[in-house]
Amino acid sequence: MTAAATSARMDAGPAQQVPLLSVRGLELHVPSSPQALRLIDGVSFDLDRGETLGLVGESGSGKTLTALSIMRLLEPPLSGLVRGQVALDGVEVMALPEGEMSALRGRVLSMVFQEPMTSLNPVMTVGRQIAEPAMRHLGLGAAAAASRAQELLRLVGIPDPARVAASHPHLLSGGMRQRAMIATAIACRPALLIADEPTTALDVTVQAQILELLGDLQRELGSAILLITHDLAVIAENAHRVAVMYAGRIIEEAPVDALFAGARHPYARGLLASIPRIERARPDALPEIPGVVPAPGERPAGCAFAPRCARAASRCHAEAPPLVQTAPRHRLACWEPFDG
Ligand SMILES: Nc1ncnc2c1ncn2[C@@H]1O[C@H](COP(=O)(O)OP(=O)(O)OP(=O)(O)O)[C@@H](O)[C@H]1O
Ligand SMILES: [Mg+2]
Repeated sequence: MTAAATSARMDAGPAQQVPLLSVRGLELHVPSSPQALRLIDGVSFDLDRGETLGLVGESGSGKTLTALSIMRLLEPPLSGLVRGQVALDGVEVMALPEGEMSALRGRVLSMVFQEPMTSLNPVMTVGRQIAEPAMRHLGLGAAAAASRAQELLRLVGIPDPARVAASHPHLLSGGMRQRAMIATAIACRPALLIADEPTTALDVTVQAQILELLGDLQRELGSAILLITHDLAVIAENAHRVAVMYAGRIIEEAPVDALFAGARHPYARGLLASIPRIERARPDALPEIPGVVPAPGERPAGCAFAPRCARAASRCHAEAPPLVQTAPRHRLACWEPFDG
């Protein structure tokens, strides 16, 4: 199916049989000596319409690379090294010609980037950047798109949208830039929004306001959201399901309540069982688990978490556990899990 047909199908409304986003066996292995860098190491998950999947994991676990692979926004040479399937509404997008992919980007799927400065164009006013996708994808005229841009800036909590719309990004504070980027990402009301640390730079009030806005967008349009964040309180309040990544893999995935109440993987349990304490600690920090994530070139042969794991048995050091379904909506990759 062509990109235009995919867009048309999305406009026609949801087709319920397939998940909106389906990722299978996603890999990003960089050949190097003595061992390939397995930056993403076989990631698979589904995301339904109207659903928010939280993606958590320590720094370097591969969250951003997973997001950029799905968006097909990696630069060479990494872009040429991605393997696996990504289907959007049943349409395989990894093999689409770049022209068709860029017709979907910003319109059917869009992304809020972890680094606002790298994604905003420094030589274009903020208003113009928000208006551009609305003109390109929705066919709005310049004046209508400009007023839509200001409306979006107001929606993301910017009190003086006219001034901000006329400004270049470097004149804005970090928080303002972050909000401008969110406005750009939602300008075309995408079916899939990937939000990579969308509110980290913002104060708590604005953060709540923006998450509420994303929730409204989701309820109104049935959008699917992949929410990447270090803030477990944000996940607890805004995600339906959580996937925990460690060293390039998903190690456990379940509905939010089930995972916070009873994660079975020792790493996930360490991370999520401590949520009441996190809310009082630095809100952007994951709880500390002794040791560090191994660098991609230094992963042990077995489970990558085994060297830090109090429950590790000899099999854990020898063989990496596969991610298997342990209950209807629960997946787990562990040889020595806690009881469910
Ligand atoms: N262009 C690149 N070339 C080689 N390695 C890379 C490249 N980009 C990222 N990496 C490595 O890939 C791993 C995963 O990076 P990624 O940015 O996806 O992590 P992350 O989970 O998003 O972390 P954070 O929470 O800090 O944002 C890291 O070890 C990182 O150093
Ligand atoms: Mg990241």
